[in-house]
Amino acid sequence: MGRPSFLVLVHLTFLWTDVIGSGRRQHRVQHGSCSYTFILPEVENCQPQKNYQVTNSLQRDSPPARDPDPATGHPEKAKPQPPRMVERLEPSTENHTQWLEKLESYIQENVRSGMEELKRSTVHSHTATMLEIGTNLLSQSAEQTRKLTNVETQVLNQTSRVEIQLLEYSLVTSRLEKHILQQNQEISRLNEKNSFLEQRFSALETRHIKELQGVQREKRKLQELLERQVHLVTLIQGSSRNSTLLQQQQNALTATVEQLLAVVTHCNDINSQPKEESVIFRDCAEIFHSGVTKNGVYGIRPLNSTRTVLVFCDMQTKGGGWTVIQHRRDGAVDFHRNWKDYKMGFGDPLGEYWAGNDVIHLLTRSQDNALHVLLKDAEGNEAASHYDHFYIDAEDQNYSLHARGFTGTAGRTSSLTHSGTMFSTKDHDNDGCSCRCAQMASGGWWFEACGPSNLNGIYYAGMSNVVRYNGIKWYYWKGPGLIATMTTMMVRPTAF
Ligand SMILES: *[C@@H]1O[C@H](CO)[C@@H](O)[C@H](O)[C@H]1NC(C)=O
Ligand SMILES: *[C@@H]1O[C@H](CO)[C@@H](O)[C@H](O)[C@H]1NC(C)=O
Ligand SMILES: *[C@@H]1O[C@H](CO)[C@@H](O)[C@H](O)[C@H]1NC(C)=O
Ligand SMILES: *[C@@H]1O[C@H](CO)[C@@H](O)[C@H](O)[C@H]1NC(C)=O
Ligand SMILES: *[C@@H]1O[C@H](CO)[C@@H](O)[C@H](O)[C@H]1NC(C)=O
Repeated sequence: MGRPSFLVLVHLTFLWTDVIGSGRRQHRVQHGSCSYTFILPEVENCQPQKNYQVTNSLQRDSPPARDPDPATGHPEKAKPQPPRMVERLEPSTENHTQWLEKLESYIQENVRSGMEELKRSTVHSHTATMLEIGTNLLSQSAEQTRKLTNVETQVLNQTSRVEIQLLEYSLVTSRLEKHILQQNQEISRLNEKNSFLEQRFSALETRHIKELQGVQREKRKLQELLERQVHLVTLIQGSSRNSTLLQQQQNALTATVEQLLAVVTHCNDINSQPKEESVIFRDCAEIFHSGVTKNGVYGIRPLNSTRTVLVFCDMQTKGGGWTVIQHRRDGAVDFHRNWKDYKMGFGDPLGEYWAGNDVIHLLTRSQDNALHVLLKDAEGNEAASHYDHFYIDAEDQNYSLHARGFTGTAGRTSSLTHSGTMFSTKDHDNDGCSCRCAQMASGGWWFEACGPSNLNGIYYAGMSNVVRYNGIKWYYWKGPGLIATMTTMMVRPTAF
């Protein structure tokens, strides 16, 4: 900046002239905060210029008295000076005017530059503010970005966790599917095996039946042969000729036939054995539970029993499952029997029979049983006596009777003797009578003296007014005159 130093130089020049000169005039100009002092030169030194023109409006200290310029337009107010002085003053004034112009332009320049500076600083401050705001925004957005990143991380974490779980689930599912597939394969394999076994079994059965038929045919043929031989021998003997040879031959043939018969019987045994072994029922209740609901004769083997006995199963009365231990209906079987017969049982399970005291004991002692007594008289009236709990002791206790929980239509009082009464037959007198009830009343029963009942008495068919002491008796149903034409005693587990 050469201009301010130049201005200072100029100012110093003025000061210097002020010091050396005397009686000179000063002029001060105030422009804003700046003040400018001008020291005007001596009039003697000034050389006025004829063609000088004033172009600004600055006030002149010593205006020219003569030769007024129309351009200045200012009337002179100063004291009148001699005209030479005025002429000399003019060039100096012009010189001053030029200075002033220069100053003005300088000031203007300065002001402009100041303005520019101001503008620039304003722009600077604006820029700073903008920068600050920008920085704030940047930091805020950085914060937001950080938060977003956090959220993103969390979401990613969740997603990955869910994915891991999904993976685990799919693993488990596939494992289960594999398992199910294996089981299905196993099932189908078993099914195949089963059908194969069934086929083989039926094939074996068919072959067995064929063999059996063949053997039976053989047996028949041999029997025919034997008969023919016997016939021949008879013929030969009848012809009274020596027949030792023939007899020997016949003996040999007979032996062969017997051997073959034995073989056939053995075959039959083998054939029927497995069937018996595969089904052992303790009583009719078990048979009923196995799905059989038809009345009929079935083989049972009570608990601890060493043999299978045939009994009639009542599968219809009061829900079925009843094991019949006594039945009378036509008098076809003689019930006036000894101790051993009553112990082992007798009669025909399809008709009249006694199941046997040993069997009744095992049946009723293995578990709690109920006893149901069904009666029918000659007129066809039916009645029943029921005991919720019934059992008899073993033979060493003489098959003592135990019956509780009486209900029913065959009398309001139980016709059975009280608990503990022993069994009696004609050869075993255990009754409480000095007589022999089994002899008098006939049959085997739990006689007391001799008691109100005996279902094993003599069977009398038809109606009669005669009171018979040895007939079938169930006193509290219809008194001593009743003739029962049908009796049934049957037992069934209470837990049926
Ligand atoms: C005007 O000033 C210049 C110097 O800048 C000087 O040489 C000249 O003599 C002056 N003229 C008058 C008439 O004083
Ligand atoms: C997910 O975040 C939990 C804590 O919040 C951390 O223990 C786990 O390791 C993270 N899992 C992943 C896959 O980043
Ligand atoms: C048959 O003849 C034999 C001798 O050849 C003889 O020993 C036998 O006693 C005779 N039998 C009868 C029944 O005549
Ligand atoms: C069957 O035999 C066992 C052992 O001998 C015995 O404990 C059980 O009381 C017997 N049951 C019946 C009903 O006799
Ligand atoms: C069973 O009967 C027989 C013969 O009647 C008798 O000797 C025996 O004492 C009786 N047993 C019991 C336990 O009463």
